[in-house]
Amino acid sequence: MTDSDAGTTGALDSAFRADVLRGLQSHPRAIPARWLYDHAGSGLFEDITDLPEYYPTRTERGLLEAHCPEVAEIAGTGHAVVEFGSGSSVKTPILLRAVKPAVYVPIDISGEFLRESNAVLAKDFPDLDISPVEADFMHPVEMPEAAQKLPRIGFFPGSTIGNMVPRTGVDLLRRMRENLGEGALLLIGMDRVKDEEILVPAYDDSAGVTADFNLNLIDRINREIGGDMPREKFRHRAVWNASHSRIEMHIEALEPVDFTVGGERFHMEAGETIHTENSHKFAPRDQRLLLRAAGWEPIREWTDEKGWFSLILAEATPQRFAP
Ligand code: TRP
Repeated sequence: MTDSDAGTTGALDSAFRADVLRGLQSHPRAIPARWLYDHAGSGLFEDITDLPEYYPTRTERGLLEAHCPEVAEIAGTGHAVVEFGSGSSVKTPILLRAVKPAVYVPIDISGEFLRESNAVLAKDFPDLDISPVEADFMHPVEMPEAAQKLPRIGFFPGSTIGNMVPRTGVDLLRRMRENLGEGALLLIGMDRVKDEEILVPAYDDSAGVTADFNLNLIDRINREIGGDMPREKFRHRAVWNASHSRIEMHIEALEPVDFTVGGERFHMEAGETIHTENSHKFAPRDQRLLLRAAGWEPIREWTDEKGWFSLILAEATPQRFAP
C-alpha cells in the first residue's frame, strides 16, 4: 500500500473516508490497520524494523539465514515460491538464494508496490523468472502460466498472520492452501508469547518512532478527509491484552476533545481510545492449532535461542476421513 494508490484512485479515497467515519462512530472506536500505511507510514514502519526494542525483524532474519538451507533440502528443486504480500527486500532474497526456485510469484494488492520491489529483486536475481500477480490473496488467485505445473512453496513472513484476528487468519491460511494446492509447503513466521516487559516496548519504543507511526494516522485523516483532529491532544498507547494474547495499538485522547472529520463532529473523553492495530502472539501449541485448523501440518519448527520468534514449515496435507 503506498500513497500513490490513494492519490490516483478515487475508490481508495472513499474507502478510507468510509472506514474512518464508521470507525470513529463505533464503540469501541476502531480504524482498520491498513490505513496506517500511506507513504509516510510505510517509511516509519521501515524505521521500526531497525529499532533496538523491535526484536521480530532481526530475529526472523536470523532464523531464515540459519534454516532456509534446510527448507531447500526438504523441498527439493524446481519450485515456484509464492509470496503473500509485498516482497520484502531483505527477507525474500534469503529464501530465494537457498531454494533457487524456477519461478517467483509475489502476490500483492498494490500493483505499484509489486513493480517497485520486483525491479529491485530482478537486479539481484537476473536469471529468476518473476511472475507477479496483482490480487487480493483473501480470494482465489490463478497461478501464472509459468507456475502452473510446478510444486509450490508459500512464503508468509513477518508474523503478519498475527495482525489478523484468528477467524480472519484461519480464513487466509485456508485460502492459501486452496491457492497453493495439496502437497504445497508453507514457510511462515509467527511471533511468540513472551514477557510483557519485552512485548510492550517493541510497540512503544523510547525514540517514539512507533508513536509517530500510529499518530501519523491523525495527520492522514486531517489531510485526506478534511479534519481538525489536534494531534497534540492524543498519544500513542501499546497495551498487552492477555485474554486475546495480543498487543493492541491505540490512539488515546489525553483530555476531553471535540473535532470534525469529513463534516462530522466527534467528541472523545480523556482516556478514550481509537483502536488501530493488533499483533497477536502465539504459544507453540497456538501456532500448530492455527495451522492445522486451516489444513496445514507443521513439519519443522525453528526458534531462536530465547524462543521469541518461530519459523514454521508446514505441508498442505490431504483431509483425513477418519481420526
Ligand atoms: N506484523 C508485524 C508485527 O505485528 C508488523 C507490524 C504491524 C507492526 N503493525 C505494526 C510493527 C505496528 C510495529 C508497529 O509486529
